Amino acid sequence: MTDTISTDRLDLLPLAVGHAAEMAKVLSDTDLHTFTGGAPASPDALRSRYQRLVAGSPDPDVCWRNWVIRLREDGCLVGTVQATITLSPSGSTAEIAWVVGTAWQKRGIASEAARALVGWLGEQRVRTVIAHLHPDHHASANVASAVGLTPTGRRHDGEIRWEATSTAGGLADFRPAPNQGGDPALYEIENRALDPRGLVLDAMRAAAPWAGRSLLDLGCGSGFWLPGYAEEAARAIGVEPDPTLLPLARRRDARVRVLAGSAEHIPLPDASVDVVHARFAYFFPPAGAAGLAEVLRVLRPGGALVVVDNDLRAGRFAELLARLPDAEAQAQGRHTDAWWAERGAERTEVMSEWRFDSRADFEAVLRLEFPAEVADPWLTANPEALGLSYGYVLFTVRR
Ligand SMILES: C[S@@+](CC[C@H](N)C(=O)[O-])C[C@H]1O[C@@H](n2cnc3c(N)ncnc32)[C@H](O)[C@@H]1O
Repeated sequence: MTDTISTDRLDLLPLAVGHAAEMAKVLSDTDLHTFTGGAPASPDALRSRYQRLVAGSPDPDVCWRNWVIRLREDGCLVGTVQATITLSPSGSTAEIAWVVGTAWQKRGIASEAARALVGWLGEQRVRTVIAHLHPDHHASANVASAVGLTPTGRRHDGEIRWEATSTAGGLADFRPAPNQGGDPALYEIENRALDPRGLVLDAMRAAAPWAGRSLLDLGCGSGFWLPGYAEEAARAIGVEPDPTLLPLARRRDARVRVLAGSAEHIPLPDASVDVVHARFAYFFPPAGAAGLAEVLRVLRPGGALVVVDNDLRAGRFAELLARLPDAEAQAQGRHTDAWWAERGAERTEVMSEWRFDSRADFEAVLRLEFPAEVADPWLTANPEALGLSYGYVLFTVRR
């Protein structure tokens, strides 16, 4: 099915024959054909073409997905995006293309629409996305780079093949979170129990206040924190790559727009948000350079990224982490600290706690986060405990 896909400024609407008349005007500039050849289509010719596209591919292993791009603010159509998806049990491939009318170019609209399309394709478990671009079409090359495609050495009809392939079944470097992705209901209980006095939120607020500003929760998971952000922020947005968590986040709060995307591909325009939060999401140094560059792109000057991570030196939780065969826990977070320090991040420690209402919940969450050989001896040694002390560390990078 072709869904409506919404981004910050755009609605991608499933293409309909009724769009032909308006689109004929949008695409009437001959300059749009410099690299593709041909000439602008008349409304009638476009209507026939749209009729064929809407009827769908005659090949059952190929799906055609076409959208018109509507600029929400102006309520007008400004271009199209399309994907031709070839289905395969070993991973489907989508060839994508986009066009934006001359009057609306140079505003990042094609990148925003293509990013959303690539996010949607990731949700559909498309494994490879390709585009064929004329070697001299620099604007299109910029769009392709912005959505994570890279040029290959292969050419087809004089055009260069650009490509992005995922290893995880979806696009981008998305790795399903074993805790939240594996058991969203239990992670909900964990989120409710962590930081009962809101000390972490206080520290996040002190680092980069979001009252009356626009806030992006990057890797928002099932969206647990979104309603609280929407309470204070002028605008709260969630971005999440996991197709199983996305619908949960989208149902969380009608005030919040939740977009498919990842740290590496944020479906928002340049300089469009004031505060970005990443709470136990994506930023696990030394990985993170691509996402940090993308966050700095979407932050307005003066804006800030606040990353919430574990303090590997303080609190009972850190003692449990140190029992894992995890090099960074063994090093007490020294490499993580150094990675952020090199990027000019401020480091803030917050000592808080986990506090559960029931022992059963506490045990279940501890076993979600730790293997039995770590969780069980601790639980046996602390038979009455309903929680433990928990050190957090915030890394703040300002633009
Ligand atoms: C432990 S969960 C935390 C979710 C949420 N921030 C919270 O605190 O409830 C980690 C989240 O990061 C997301 N994630 C994984 N890879 C990502 C990427 N490349 N970019 C952004 N988020 C990613 C996961 O899908 C998951 O939702």
